[in-house]
Amino acid sequence: VDPGDQPEGDATAAPEVAVWLATPSEALAREGEALLSAAERERCDRFQHQGARAEFLTGRWLIRTTLGLRLGLSPTEVPICIGEHGALHLRPGTGDEDLRFNLSHTRGLVALAIAAGRAVGVDVEDRERQSGRLAIAERFFAPGEVAALRQVTPEQAFDRFLDYWTLKEAYIKARGLGLAIPLKRFAFELDGPGPVTVRFDPELGDDPNRWSFERVDPTPRHRLALALASRRPPVLTVEWASSRR
Ligand SMILES: CC(C)(COP(=O)(O)OP(=O)(O)OC[C@H]1O[C@@H](n2cnc3c(N)ncnc32)[C@H](O)[C@@H]1OP(=O)(O)O)[C@@H](O)C(=O)NCCC(=O)NCCS
Repeated sequence: VDPGDQPEGDATAAPEVAVWLATPSEALAREGEALLSAAERERCDRFQHQGARAEFLTGRWLIRTTLGLRLGLSPTEVPICIGEHGALHLRPGTGDEDLRFNLSHTRGLVALAIAAGRAVGVDVEDRERQSGRLAIAERFFAPGEVAALRQVTPEQAFDRFLDYWTLKEAYIKARGLGLAIPLKRFAFELDGPGPVTVRFDPELGDDPNRWSFERVDPTPRHRLALALASRRPPVLTVEWASSRR
């Protein structure tokens, strides 16, 4: 369990999560490149593929400008650290709020989710890049998810697969452990009318009541899922950051 998450209780106000979006572009990549730390520059130099480089740099532009505004720092002063498994966090003691954030990029979209004092994970995927869905599901997803995928129509299966994929990614990213968490060991349940629910194998040592999950289509082409360490569903705002340039 992530240390430092705020205690839950009925008296706790619904937590706020801000999701900021940007479309990767050469213009934003140039702005992002001007803001990089030495370590980020080194990493950026290793990108061979222009598209991946533009996504990375747009992501850094999004993180540095958004968190800079929130913390009252210039974008270059935002102290981004990388954890053991690749998750980003702010240097402890930065600003008054304990801000947590997570980034995701795919072709045509970068998303940044920010929450105060709670673990948060976000994943975005491009519908146009999905292939071999059932084979992937059978290999990686939980048995209950594979069974549910077999029961829906082929048209529904496409959306359902994207739901599972993005929710699973959002959860493992909120935990900060990446693929060290086996994807078969937790299963989302999407058939009921209420909010998304999850079941964890006992070996994961996690409690479904600790989490809220959200799904959003930020563009007709993209699916976004969010995982937040909160029993109470968040008040979610989704905004395009590109508009504030
Ligand atoms: C790295 C991983 C956490 C996310 O990868 P991804 O979905 O390909 O990429 P996303 O764009 O959504 O996320 C990448 C960002 O997540 C962040 N990140 C990296 N490792 C992370 C971790 N362990 N925990 C949380 N966030 C992490 C980083 O900010 C990274 O962006 P950056 O490299 O520009 O800093 C991991 O889940 C992975 O390798 N996934 C591979 C895809 C896969 O097999 N998915 C199965 C889906 S069911």
